[in-house]
Amino acid sequence: MMMNKEGYYIQTDDIVKVFRLGNVEVQALRGLSMRVEKGEMIAIVGASGSGKTTLLNILGGITRATAGNTIVAGYDVTNASPKQLVALRREVVGHIFQELNLISTLTAYENVELPMLAAKKDGGTRKRRCEELLSIVGLADRMHHKPDQLSGGERQRVAIASAIANDPQVLLCDEPTGDLDSETGGVIVEYLHKVNKEFGKTVIMVTHDPSIARQCDRIYRIRDGEIISVQEPTSDKEMGAASRIDVVRERLEEIKDEIKRLDEEAKSGLIDLGLFAGQRTRLADRQQLFEEELHRLGL
Ligand SMILES: Nc1ncnc2c1ncn2[C@@H]1O[C@H](COP(=O)(O)OP(=O)(O)OP(=O)(O)O)[C@@H](O)[C@H]1O
Ligand SMILES: [Mg+2]
Repeated sequence: MMMNKEGYYIQTDDIVKVFRLGNVEVQALRGLSMRVEKGEMIAIVGASGSGKTTLLNILGGITRATAGNTIVAGYDVTNASPKQLVALRREVVGHIFQELNLISTLTAYENVELPMLAAKKDGGTRKRRCEELLSIVGLADRMHHKPDQLSGGERQRVAIASAIANDPQVLLCDEPTGDLDSETGGVIVEYLHKVNKEFGKTVIMVTHDPSIARQCDRIYRIRDGEIISVQEPTSDKEMGAASRIDVVRERLEEIKDEIKRLDEEAKSGLIDLGLFAGQRTRLADRQQLFEEELHRLGL
């Protein structure tokens, strides 16, 4: 597969995805650009229908973008042949889906073994690796359980083990804690941090949970198929709580000023109403984000 030596480890440039169903067209992504460095843990947040799953599926070589360029772990995904995409999925990326990650007739062990069978690993390697992976995710004593004999959290842990079975460099996780209570969700995220920090994998995770997003290196916020903001909670943390509050307050004031200016422009007819509506919701969204942040800081 073509290596792209320039640019970022993971990079999308102006990707567009249009789904056509008969006469109906849905623009799931509208020129989305993002950059990720090797070893980062990234959160993707955004409303339902904003394009998060579509983005992950393009990064994972499941869906082809309608336009734009995609690089994953240095590989040129845009121009990859179908065969190369299969290889990408088998060797380069691990993927945890929003639902239905496991085959219900197979045990936990067999589910973890499956990607290794596809990659033609020998029996000894498969056995060693299955046992190792299932003990990493704390399920050594559940190896021979089938999915319906496991809890939701345990099933997601099997899904993690299966996704990293072939030692992929990149792990894509679509709402890995979606159906779980917050405590069980926290355990799943701990395992994902372990995969990121101890095994050096680059992790991109879609989540609805702000407290999970905050534990990542950066948060990409998507709205209507575009990135509308990038946040760096870790660097905020290093800053210390007092100055963090100042920064958040300052940003909040800036946003409020922008909203005021925009409202005035709309009142005096200086701005197209369609444009106004778009910018207004975007700003309101940011305002909410920063207000939530202040709230979390105890104000
Ligand atoms: N295969 C498809 N065919 C047609 N439209 C699709 C298809 N997949 C997604 N869409 C549409 O594209 C948009 C983005 O969908 P996507 O699944 O990426 O959203 P999402 O951000 O993951 O939402 P959620 O948080 O609900 O999972 C939606 O409007 C959806 O209806
Ligand atoms: Mg989704």
